[in-house]
Amino acid sequence: MDYGEIGLSLGDQREAALARTAQHVLRAWKEFDTARDHESLPGEDLQQLLTSSLPSEGRDVLDVIDQAVEVLDSSLAQSRPRYFAFIGSSGLEVGALADLLAHSYDPNLAVDARAATELEWQAVSWLAQFIGFPAETGTFTSGGTISNITALASAREAMIPGAREHGLGGIPMTLYCSSEAHYSITRAAEVLGIGAANVRAIEIDAQRRMRADVLRDQVQRDLADGCKPVTIVATTGTTLTGAVDPIDQLADVAEEFGVWLHVDGAYGVPAAAVPSREYLFAGLGRANSVTVDCHKWMFVPKACSAILVRNAASLAKVFAHDEAYMPHAGGHYNAVDITLEYSRPFRALKLWMLFSTHGANAVREAIERNCDQAQMIFDWIQNRPLFETLTNRPQLSIVPLRVVVQGCSDPDAHNNALCLAIQRDGRVYVSPATIDGHVWLRPCFINFRTTSNDVATLLDVAEDLGAVCQGLHN
Ligand SMILES: Cc1ncc(COP(=O)(O)O)c(C=O)c1O
Repeated sequence: MDYGEIGLSLGDQREAALARTAQHVLRAWKEFDTARDHESLPGEDLQQLLTSSLPSEGRDVLDVIDQAVEVLDSSLAQSRPRYFAFIGSSGLEVGALADLLAHSYDPNLAVDARAATELEWQAVSWLAQFIGFPAETGTFTSGGTISNITALASAREAMIPGAREHGLGGIPMTLYCSSEAHYSITRAAEVLGIGAANVRAIEIDAQRRMRADVLRDQVQRDLADGCKPVTIVATTGTTLTGAVDPIDQLADVAEEFGVWLHVDGAYGVPAAAVPSREYLFAGLGRANSVTVDCHKWMFVPKACSAILVRNAASLAKVFAHDEAYMPHAGGHYNAVDITLEYSRPFRALKLWMLFSTHGANAVREAIERNCDQAQMIFDWIQNRPLFETLTNRPQLSIVPLRVVVQGCSDPDAHNNALCLAIQRDGRVYVSPATIDGHVWLRPCFINFRTTSNDVATLLDVAEDLGAVCQGLHN
């Protein structure tokens, strides 16, 4: 039966659709170069569009593209230079182009996709060289959470061979990380049957880094109690303050007790490539596995994380399998034999295009600049009595700060209200965080577009609105 032309091709509107999209992208890129002085909120028309029911028939693609852009322009865009909340990203231009290309060809990195597979190996190797980790292999994943789960699955199989086949047989396992490690580590413990209650949140030192002496005592106590330590996780740097755990000291403990060492460098490990920060990552090469989120401090758009492992066999040990629909051509492993995921988009292309277009030195400079911005705002605040920082200088690019209002009875409520006021104001965007029970504003500088002027604007806006908020809570 001939169905005639199926209406899912753009047909003779292709060129117009691409041209319209290109116009919008170009305008957005230019806009991202400098900050805008307000955020646009979704208007009534947009609200109506976004609550309309399923369309049975299509509309003109050019209108649809315009509406999609309206949605994006009314959304929080991490690409903007004054987006300082959480751990953002930058929507790197060649990364966005890589996504368009990769999604158009849509190779599936679950199996051998020929040149795309070779490029993924090359991108893994370039990333490993960049951060200085002797990876035998690695893969790209959808994010730090999945990279951490992948690493900890490998660790569990290495420490308890056969666990994937036979389960844990009641073996009480333990996992060690800083008390300020990211929740994805606890999630990994939950989904891997280690159990959240068996995650040992190790005390931190005055610089908020995991204490190796406390770790050592805890491992010894657990061994004496019949537990099986499966992984020590070093966080470099932490999501809360950017603290970098002392990898070398933790590696000593891992080696002493024969435990897998994983480095969760989702946010911070790209700074290992920067001369001024390299020393913080001493011992990185001794880890068994490392998580790197390229969609954080390697500037490319989401989703693009990588898990790198020192020993190539460790991923296959936990993920390799035989299925009738997944032949092993020439006896070689498929990507699904070393990944948690099956269908996988071509994420590696954006990192490859980043290094190919700009070179590793430009990436290093951009990271260094973000570190300098963190130092700069820390120093400025020391001369502005309205603000306070934590006592330690920032190790990477996160600088918790708060407004100090004389006589204010509830400084936490005040800083929380200030943060919400800043978000509503729209000139800068920052998120709050609770540190040692108190509310702080927690800017993170991670965008290559951010300038010193943008950083200064954060303090100016906080000063303006801090005054407005005064009286609310005292
Ligand atoms: C240290 C750390 N690990 C893991 C993650 C999770 O990464 P993702 O959001 O890409 O899953 C984050 C996210 O901020 C992080 O900061």
